[in-house]
Amino acid sequence: MSLADSLLRQLAERVGTPFWVYDGALIRQRIADIKAMTAAPGLQARFAMKACPATKILREMRAAGIWIDAVSGNEALRAVHAGHAVGNNPPVICFTADVFRDNALDVVLKHNLLPNIGSPAMIAQLAAGGYKGPISIRINPGFGHGHVNTCDTGGPSSKHGIWHQDLLAAKFAADRAGFDVVMLHAHIGSGPKIQELHDNLTRLAGEFAALIPQFPQVTAVSLGGGIPHNYRERDKQTDVASLAKLFAHCREVIVKAAGRLIRVEIEPGSYYVAPACTLVTRVHDVKQTRANAKGAGATFAMVDAGFVDLVRPAMYGSYHQIDILGKDPAQGTEPIVVAGPLCESGDVFTRGGADEELHPRQLPRPEIGDLMVLRDAGAYGYAMSSNYNSIGRAPQVWIEPDGSAELISRRESIEDILKPETSAPIAL
Ligand code: LLP
Repeated sequence: MSLADSLLRQLAERVGTPFWVYDGALIRQRIADIKAMTAAPGLQARFAMKACPATKILREMRAAGIWIDAVSGNEALRAVHAGHAVGNNPPVICFTADVFRDNALDVVLKHNLLPNIGSPAMIAQLAAGGYKGPISIRINPGFGHGHVNTCDTGGPSSKHGIWHQDLLAAKFAADRAGFDVVMLHAHIGSGPKIQELHDNLTRLAGEFAALIPQFPQVTAVSLGGGIPHNYRERDKQTDVASLAKLFAHCREVIVKAAGRLIRVEIEPGSYYVAPACTLVTRVHDVKQTRANAKGAGATFAMVDAGFVDLVRPAMYGSYHQIDILGKDPAQGTEPIVVAGPLCESGDVFTRGGADEELHPRQLPRPEIGDLMVLRDAGAYGYAMSSNYNSIGRAPQVWIEPDGSAELISRRESIEDILKPETSAPIAL
């Protein structure tokens, strides 16, 4: 299931470290899984492109007939750039956001995209911008949750969507503005356990079934994303057949309540891409701190990737399996803290627990020059990488099943980093 060590070593020589490497076959397998989950009539899958917006991946989605959920004007433009169809009939690119920022409204207007509004005032903002088409409303159904509290997607503490009890008020505002509400949407979880996802989606379908008689123009309902990828037990993944059954059942419930055909959508992000990318980094040093009155000492493997590359461990305490190429854990392990090059003590990949403190990982003793790999880095990996410390984003490589490799984005240079800087005067 993992790319060969020899290939990763060769790539490290060619493109330098750190770098991201995508296994094209694995992405296609995950796309096939989602196609199987949505094979019943009336089901449609989107890709929540925020998880991994590379053109190469967006093209794979297009080729497979997967539609797009975009969250910014530029995400929508990237989808257009990758060949996804514009327009709202069918709404191949849906624009889901809580705020119209920068070019978002212009892009919606120019490309006639279906706006999926997450905040009541967006109705007036659309009207003021001259928008005339249909809309979708994202609701906060009051339940559901993410893999950590900061990823809460449903409930009183979530910023997303329009609170379910305010939905009818939003509908009346849409009516007054002349907008048909053609879709109802909710995204209730990025990472609950699979049984909880089943329970939440069943409940959500019931809520939509209760609402739909009041929405005669609705032609589609979106159940959102949130199909979990198992980061800790990589050989135990979601059962595709049971989700296929569940989505078909959800649609039946909704269609029955509506008394007409309704398209039911899902829009996973992580599931498509999480396992298909590995972040490869090199060990530059192995050093110690020693016990004192403040605590125990630790062994630090100092690597050249940091949270500018993969932020999930630093941000959420997320777990990614770490392997050292050529070192077999069966030969013995010791607790190792894996830390990066940034000028931040939080730049550590081995975090976890409620305290999000250092959680040294049992690893073989690394040596300077070893290649270390962080697995399952495809979702919200490169997508959330940054230019903090002016480091420049690492390159992305794509591997085809025949072993051929393609550089899909190069390492960012100082010129890239300086590009937006100007000395343009602002007329006041
Ligand atoms: N649809 C909407 C409206 C969303 O907000 C999201 C994720 C998805 C779909 C896709 O959810 P997924 O299938 O990937 O769970 N950065 C975090 C996850 C934040 C998810 C935000 N919204 C992480 O690295 O885990």
